[in-house]
Amino acid sequence: MTERRPIVDLTDEQARRALVLKWGTVPKDVIPAWVAEMDYALDPVVHEALLRAVRDGVTGYPVFGYTPELAEAYAGFAARHYGSRVEPEWVHPVVDVTSGVRVVLDTLSEPAPVAFLVPGYSPQLDVAEVTGRRRVDVAVDPDAERAEVDLDQLESLLAGGARTLLLTQPHNPWGRVFSRTELERIRDVVVRHGARVVCDEIHAPLVLPGASHTSYLDLDGTHDHAVAVVAASKAFNTAGLRCAQLVVPSASDRARLAAAPMARNDSWSPLGVVAAVAAYADGDPWLASLVERLDQLRTQLGGLLAEHLPAARMRPLEATYLVWLDARAYGHDDPAAVALERGRVKLGPGHEYAPGLGGHVRLNLATSSARLAEIVRRLASAWV
Ligand SMILES: Cc1ncc(COP(=O)(O)O)c(C=O)c1O
Repeated sequence: MTERRPIVDLTDEQARRALVLKWGTVPKDVIPAWVAEMDYALDPVVHEALLRAVRDGVTGYPVFGYTPELAEAYAGFAARHYGSRVEPEWVHPVVDVTSGVRVVLDTLSEPAPVAFLVPGYSPQLDVAEVTGRRRVDVAVDPDAERAEVDLDQLESLLAGGARTLLLTQPHNPWGRVFSRTELERIRDVVVRHGARVVCDEIHAPLVLPGASHTSYLDLDGTHDHAVAVVAASKAFNTAGLRCAQLVVPSASDRARLAAAPMARNDSWSPLGVVAAVAAYADGDPWLASLVERLDQLRTQLGGLLAEHLPAARMRPLEATYLVWLDARAYGHDDPAAVALERGRVKLGPGHEYAPGLGGHVRLNLATSSARLAEIVRRLASAWV
């Protein structure tokens, strides 16, 4: 086994230079814990590959279409991490996950409503509408003990005319990793109605100890109706490099996607390809350190909340570094606004993930242990 590579925390100054959205757009006295980026230095292997590519002037167009080194690197990663059998020819680059979802809806889905799990990743609340389709919600009750897909609700939406399920798993912001049994039940409902699935699996590399990821495509009977959208960008902090991947097992779906007009697809970046190949092929030692760090931080956060904000409810975090917090007990309709104004912490407002839902926030814990402690201390002084 190759030696582990440690996670290196960025200083505030380094983070302001590196993470221009997360850190660069907030005043200096604010700790940003909102958008899904991590306050860590890049994996040196990814960093080196990018430096080499820039030195070589890899700044032209990427290869359009099938990119064997990327496809093979992803197939290897999926086999090692999820036990998946992915044929390299199934894997095609797209610019990012959300536009990959859009291209698949545009190209493969019937012009009918799209079912979406809510609370859900905010930019994807609008993706159905951008393709001319209506979004219909499979909502999780904020008081439910465990965040689960309501199969009756899904059934009735599909019976009522929805033809696609946009399934995010592992789920942001629920923090859930769906079990194989849960996924099989979802598949059974989808198949009963002859619907399609677009499965956003961007968070799969970030499954934490205690859970394991099953790709929707690894279930029997899914290849004729499902596409997965994946990326190394969330786990390796390379979202700005613009390269995600579609995993398309059906040959006829691949042919339809390949025939989509160029104008429908925003092309990816060759540097994004370089980063993704390095991450998938050589990033395991760094990823193992990252998962260990995130596991420690989730434990630390649980302790900090118990001590300083005992009435806040943290949904169990099975994957990702994005924590869904129910802070209704503190009586603020928009706790993120209060956190920013009084506590100088920027969080994701819950209503951006579930329109109309008050009292919730999404907290990004991928920072240093010291900053996480300071974030909770500030939230307690702002909310209580
Ligand atoms: C579920 C989910 N999908 C997609 C994305 C964004 O991916 P991209 O920038 O590749 O569109 C995120 C970002 O946090 C996410 O949580």
